[in-house]
Amino acid sequence: MAQDQTGSTESPKPLSVGVLTGGGDCPGLNAVIRGVVRKAEKHYGDRVVGFLDGWKGVIENDFMELTIDACRGILPRGGTILGTTRITPFMVEDGMAKVKATMSENDLDALIVIGGEGTLSCALATYNEGLPVVGVPKTIDNDIGGTERTFGFDTAVAIATEAIDRLHTTAESHDRVMVCEVMGRHVGHIATWAGIAGGATMTLIPEHPFDVQIVCDALVRRHENGRFASIVVVAEGATPAPGTIDLPKQEVDRYGHIRLGGIGHILAGEIEQRTGLETRVTTLGHIQRGGTPTPFDRVLSTRFGVAAIDAVHTGHFGHMVALRSASITPQPLVDCVSELKYVSDELYDVATQFFA
Ligand code: F6P
Repeated sequence: MAQDQTGSTESPKPLSVGVLTGGGDCPGLNAVIRGVVRKAEKHYGDRVVGFLDGWKGVIENDFMELTIDACRGILPRGGTILGTTRITPFMVEDGMAKVKATMSENDLDALIVIGGEGTLSCALATYNEGLPVVGVPKTIDNDIGGTERTFGFDTAVAIATEAIDRLHTTAESHDRVMVCEVMGRHVGHIATWAGIAGGATMTLIPEHPFDVQIVCDALVRRHENGRFASIVVVAEGATPAPGTIDLPKQEVDRYGHIRLGGIGHILAGEIEQRTGLETRVTTLGHIQRGGTPTPFDRVLSTRFGVAAIDAVHTGHFGHMVALRSASITPQPLVDCVSELKYVSDELYDVATQFFA
């Protein structure tokens, strides 16, 4: 395809394109929206509309016009100007028919779906029902296949690392064990990265169920050796090895997702009781998802947004934009959502070198 002097591809006929943000929010969502709109309007002459509250807006035909002017100032802003929910067309009676009606009523040529595993799986299902969708991978968890990075992850790691740095000084003053619970539903990318960056004494992740007695023995040895203060980073989805600790029954939210958060307190209680070491807990929770994105996430989100509207114009429906070998390329959604991306053994092995 021909390129102009700015390196952009030749622009075919203007299109009408919808955008939605679904699932949990994430720093960088607004930067993606801005990237889409900028190139769509300026380069292609497209009309862009933003559906409100994720798929709900498409089902209910509820949207706002997205123009370059409407997107001014949103690059550094956390959250999403469009709102988000976990509702999908498959949860609502005649949901898919309603989505198709909205698309045809508004003469939409494509839908850009910005979301995590659940939202992108839904995007694939709607593509299989004939919808022209392009995905953008979002999540602080960094667990989506097909892309080396999702936006939001770098910000979450930066926040968690800063928290661990702060915990170090107070832990040292009191000679305590500090348990720091970070997000990571199915995978331990945030925990592993922040644990390495923050010099954690131990990092527990969902990929490796932990034996609490082994954790306690290591802490006791460390404190006996006269070294003081320990930071144990635990991903919210980390689980004890079978038969080691009895977990309370987990609550489920209105979308059927297990409500995580709590393993930090359980672990801290076990550590204190088994070792006698004074232990405190910090649960970072949604702090990791709020606020302004890091420069890395602003750049990645902007690149994803620009690439997503390009993918619409090159007809890459049923694809998701992805970071691979420093380039952004469209990848088939079916390959990206089929399996979660776990922490590699190579990276976790680096983390373990610094344990206790
Ligand atoms: O998937 C991103 C994530 O932040 C997970 O790490 C976490 O388990 C979940 O979302 C929390 O979701 P909610 O905001 O619905 O509690």
